[in-house]
Amino acid sequence: MTIIVTGGAGFIGSNFIFYTLKNHPKYRVICLDKLTYAGNLSTLKDVMDKPNFKFVKVDICDREAVYRLFESEKPDVVVNFAAESHVDRSIESPDVFLRTNIIGTSVLMDACRKYGIERFHQVSTDEVYGDLPIDRPDLFFTEETPLHTSSPYSSSKASADLLALAYHRTYGLPVTISRCSNNYGPYHFPEKLIPLMIANALNDKPLPVYGKGENIRDWLYVEDHCKAIDLILQKGRVGEVYNIGGHNEMRNIDIVKIILKELGKPESLITFVTDRKGHDLRYAIDPTKIHTELGWLPETKFADGIKKTIKWYLENRSWWEEIISGEYMDYYDKMYSNR
Ligand code: NAD
Ligand code: TYD
Repeated sequence: MTIIVTGGAGFIGSNFIFYTLKNHPKYRVICLDKLTYAGNLSTLKDVMDKPNFKFVKVDICDREAVYRLFESEKPDVVVNFAAESHVDRSIESPDVFLRTNIIGTSVLMDACRKYGIERFHQVSTDEVYGDLPIDRPDLFFTEETPLHTSSPYSSSKASADLLALAYHRTYGLPVTISRCSNNYGPYHFPEKLIPLMIANALNDKPLPVYGKGENIRDWLYVEDHCKAIDLILQKGRVGEVYNIGGHNEMRNIDIVKIILKELGKPESLITFVTDRKGHDLRYAIDPTKIHTELGWLPETKFADGIKKTIKWYLENRSWWEEIISGEYMDYYDKMYSNR
């Protein structure tokens, strides 16, 4: 079994590579990644020398390079994590989101059609459903909830989902799609809420909370997401969408306070800043389908997962300090200095 993991130098893709190499030691895993600002080769250092692992630096939009790779490696399965993934960046510059998230996905699926494949799995997001009202805790996203996007990021992900379903219906491509809630855990790029707040708190810098911090996200430990995707590859039905989430809804402000408490830092570091444009209010997944069909249940409770995550950031300071000392600082200044 040869599996191509795109975007494997990023947060969830790298965790999925570790999960797969550990749980399927006979698989050959090929990581295809462009190494954008969000991709970090040092993340993969522990697996780089494994005989059944290979890294290739390729842009998923580069049709010739993608076809060449499929021709030489003959993958059985492709799992597509490669994407521009940060909502705030998509509000600043939508272009690259459309290119990578939509065109890139279509190039990969064209390669799958040309060279033949057992499965193409598209890693999507709950953000394709838009948001839910904060005062209706009885409402959840199911797989039947209409797509209703808010940001250029979520619109590009919804477009890719529709294309994947179209390739299944039109060309019979064996596609599956998963739509997961917010992930957290090791190797999360420090522009996203949880790692940004940990890094700022450790450096005694202000913690920028958008609006009043009342927006709700449904948090899942990254390994539980990886396990769900693995199950979908093994037992999922082609042409189907599976929602992934662990009923762990939390307000941003409460997450930030937990992090400060865990690190022994004062709440005076919290700074309320101008809200995100079009800011989604609440995400909440109904995971009934993946639970009843595939038997998936999350294993890590938030109270344990957040402690493990904070410990990881404390023990791996060089990983994120290198990131925040470089080019990323220009982004930080641009996004937060006049907010
Ligand atoms: P990330 O930004 O940490 O990593 C993205 C990776 O894709 C990077 O390694 C980057 O170099 C690579 N990449 C970007 N453009 C590329 C291109 N044109 N060609 C090849 N590689 C390219 O993202 P993440 O948080 O790990 O998210 C991975 C996937 O999961 C994305 O598709 C995202 O939409 C989805 N998702 C993320 C979350 C979350 O909470 N982070 C939740 C649900 C779904
Ligand atoms: P983020 O990690 O960007 O994920 P997403 O927008 O895809 O859910 O943000 C999570 C929540 O945290 C979201 O409601 C926006 C908020 N947020 C802040 O309040 N401050 C910040 O500096 C960031 C990056 C996010």
